[in-house]
Amino acid sequence: MEFLFYLNIMSVKVILGAQWGDEGKGKIVDLLSDNIDITARYQGGANAGHTIIYNGNQYVLHLIPSGIFNDNVTCVIGNGVVFDPESFLKELDMLKGLGLDLKNRILISHNAHLIMPYHKVLDKIKENQTEKIGTTGMGIGPAYVDKANRIGIKTIDLLDKKTLKEKIKKNLKYYNQVLTSVYNSNPLDEIKIILQYESYSSQLDDFITDTTLYLNNAIKSGKKIIAEGAQGALLDVDHGTYPYVTSSNPTVGGVCTGLGIPPTAISSIIGVVKAYCTRVGKGPFPTELNNELGDKLRKIGVEYGATTGRPRRCGWFDAFALKYSIMINGIQKLAVTKLDVLNDFDEIFICTSYEYEGKTVKTFPTDLLSLSAITPVYEKFEGWKTDLSEIRKFEELPENAIKYLSAIEKYCGVGISIISVGSKREQTIIIEN
Ligand code: GDP
Ligand code: IMO
Ligand code: MG
Repeated sequence: MEFLFYLNIMSVKVILGAQWGDEGKGKIVDLLSDNIDITARYQGGANAGHTIIYNGNQYVLHLIPSGIFNDNVTCVIGNGVVFDPESFLKELDMLKGLGLDLKNRILISHNAHLIMPYHKVLDKIKENQTEKIGTTGMGIGPAYVDKANRIGIKTIDLLDKKTLKEKIKKNLKYYNQVLTSVYNSNPLDEIKIILQYESYSSQLDDFITDTTLYLNNAIKSGKKIIAEGAQGALLDVDHGTYPYVTSSNPTVGGVCTGLGIPPTAISSIIGVVKAYCTRVGKGPFPTELNNELGDKLRKIGVEYGATTGRPRRCGWFDAFALKYSIMINGIQKLAVTKLDVLNDFDEIFICTSYEYEGKTVKTFPTDLLSLSAITPVYEKFEGWKTDLSEIRKFEELPENAIKYLSAIEKYCGVGISIISVGSKREQTIIIEN
């Protein structure tokens, strides 16, 4: 009976990026965490950079979920995350410095895999010597390789110094061979790494726990939870533009595997999208603007990576790619961010479909060959040439902005429930129905 009752509780709201990342997930999760009990990250690692404006200042979170600025929220770093202790401790210090009450508010899954120094070194070497994906260099791919290869080291291993030492020694023996023989690079210092990770044991001891049990108990007792995606659906290792992707599943399936919760617990799925498109790193981007319009979007939207500072590639809104994203994630509502960035454009375009040899393509192709052969088809919209940043009600938006948003809804078949017109919490329009 209890089991059946449990299956009826749907208290997890999923908020994920529906484009190529940096859609403004941080702002939206922070905003919606107001009356939430738990915010949980389910995949990715410190490759994420989620920006939040708190008390008028800008902060970037890489590992700690974006609910942290709301006192009522407990933040969970799930088993699906690849956990970088160095980055986490830095972030923790930053938050402590703000005077936030963090006691018992951050939990790290005992099953999350650790980012090790050799992961970062390999990530960077591979970027320089072989495959150029344009990664963040945070060791994400190599860490997930170890996880799948069953040689990864988990946070729970930090709590048993003997096991930790053995595992580091074993892995380092292998990776130092790879570094020296395959990549002609320097080996890493075993003692230094062991000491470094042993020191993390005492610093992280209080945070590491069985978050799967914690979350399932929270669901049973009706607690409200946000599952916060990192990256975006088109960077998904299975469903994105492979190999130009990240190494995890930002898509909705990642929520269940990355937190250890059942799909029946999910109550709603919100896709966050920018009012245009951006992409950092390499890979296909059909609506990219390699011209002064792209430069204008970058300049007004301040499109520079929150983690690496790299300039983001910019382009028009791709409703066709979004339709695919909606399909694979079951997105029920959209949060459209950065609409204000388009304030000063005379004409704005939405990509409505792709054509290949004059024929409309059925769905967003994920293989590079097809993506390089398609031609985006656009619909043109008149700009609104009005400052939207102070608008808080949908009815007060200029007619041309409403036309633009309605077209997004029409082409994607999903309604918009949140419109963001600035980076601050209050610069938001909530659409009730
Ligand atoms: P995330 O990774 O999805 O959380 O997004 P990022 O933080 O990497 O990038 C989004 C950027 O846009 C950040 O600098 C935000 O402060 C900013 N931002 C978010 N929403 C808005 C908005 O509606 N308007 C403007 N102008 N900036 C926004
Ligand atoms: P948030 O959560 C945008 C991109 C990198 C690169 C590719 C693989 O802030 O939206 P990786 O280091 O993951 O192996 O790099 O994925 N990438 C992101 N792009 N936003 C992110 O995170 C990203 N995290 C990784 O630029 O193209
Ligand atoms: Mg980001």
